[in-house]
Amino acid sequence: MYPELEKELSTYERRTPKSAEAHKRNLKRLPLGVASNYRAYDPYPIFVKDASGSKFRDLDGNEYIDHNLTFGALMAGHCHPAVMKAVEKRLSTGTMYGMPHDMEWELAEEVCTRFPIEMCRFGNSGTEATMHAIRIARAATKRDKIVKFEGAYHGLHDAALVSVKPHAPDYGDINAPTSVPGGMGVPKASIDNVVIATFNDLVSVERRFKENPGQIAAIILEPILMNVGLCMPQPGFLQGLRDICTKNGSLLIFDEVKTGAKLCWGGASEYFGVIPDMICIAKSIGGGFSLAAFGAHTSVMDLIAQHKVFHGGTYNTNPVAMAAGLATFREVLTRENYAHVGKLSMKLVDGYRKIVAKSGIQGYIAEAGANGALMFYPKEIRNYRDWEPIDVDLWRHYWFGMVNRGVMCQPYWWDEQWTISVQHTEADIDAHIAAFADIADSLAEAQHERLKNPVLAAAH
Ligand SMILES: Cc1ncc(COP(=O)(O)O)c(C=O)c1O
Repeated sequence: MYPELEKELSTYERRTPKSAEAHKRNLKRLPLGVASNYRAYDPYPIFVKDASGSKFRDLDGNEYIDHNLTFGALMAGHCHPAVMKAVEKRLSTGTMYGMPHDMEWELAEEVCTRFPIEMCRFGNSGTEATMHAIRIARAATKRDKIVKFEGAYHGLHDAALVSVKPHAPDYGDINAPTSVPGGMGVPKASIDNVVIATFNDLVSVERRFKENPGQIAAIILEPILMNVGLCMPQPGFLQGLRDICTKNGSLLIFDEVKTGAKLCWGGASEYFGVIPDMICIAKSIGGGFSLAAFGAHTSVMDLIAQHKVFHGGTYNTNPVAMAAGLATFREVLTRENYAHVGKLSMKLVDGYRKIVAKSGIQGYIAEAGANGALMFYPKEIRNYRDWEPIDVDLWRHYWFGMVNRGVMCQPYWWDEQWTISVQHTEADIDAHIAAFADIADSLAEAQHERLKNPVLAAAH
């Protein structure tokens, strides 16, 4: 660890003693002291007291402009008034029924109007949505294997927890990456059914299809790889995948758990003009409540109606989440709000780009819709292996430095990205840019020093 990072960490510890105490308490009863592994980091995570609009406060009363927004699940911002009103109205009329109700048709209409699907089913998390989408794709094609991209995250079920963050030498050749379990407990049989390709490399995908003739049910991907900061598909890549799927009778699944609500009004299909066979959405569609959906053409979704594929769930379409979802689709994720967020995004990106250029930081800003990230690389990354040699200490210097200046610039973890909510203001963006300007020179200096180290320089 180098002195500037040490300084930011001691400032962090000085500012957040109550989080340290709370974390210590949590450690006794919760592994890692948190409820989801992604929330754990050293020396301890910030514990939240409350949140509203574009900001949250920690237990010590420090206020932060929030661009974590629950790992991108809150494009609505905290406690959006329209969502709160809809939820409060529903709360006294029953919180779950386990029986159909009339908001289901209404929300399904919204979803099927916005995304290129004819039918959908609802659930509660992105994990559920991708799990069911993969199962139904397997049933529709009567094939077991799926193609997944190295470094991509699609949730926590067995088919998804493969090659999420694999390392050398386990991950093998970049042209034919090895399927690496994302932790213990994922059965080998499951791993064998997930073949891995390299993002932005159609040749690696074609190879997988040739090696497994007539066996691949689907390609699942995030249209923008968002588990490595932010990695855009190169021109022609998504269309190439579309063509490969069509040629081989496989389904193309867009995991739009992140992009669906945050890219633009119609998600990745509208943004890139490529139409998948299936879509998975979650996170920001719920406006702060647990809501997810997966959908496809009627011919595919009919497998559920024919009782060939099973789908269920006690909490599905609980009226509180559905009320939140309806309010989110109708009053939050509007074309006007996408224009507002787009304007703020350009302001933030422009501010970062000017500071990066002036300070001499070797890096670039990646952006799409409501998301963006400061990428500490000399040139644009195209896949997981380009991303892997990130200078973690430099990134931590950036993140803790920003947090100490009252800006949670993105979730903790260098594979994440910022989100701008509809409740962020120009003043929030100005404060974000000012905090970055305040720390940029020290980042540039640290990076300059570290690049004198041949190992770090080679990775760079
Ligand atoms: C692209 C993508 N798919 C699926 C998931 C899983 O969603 P959840 O955490 O709601 O299960 C995530 C979560 O980060 C995600 O980013």
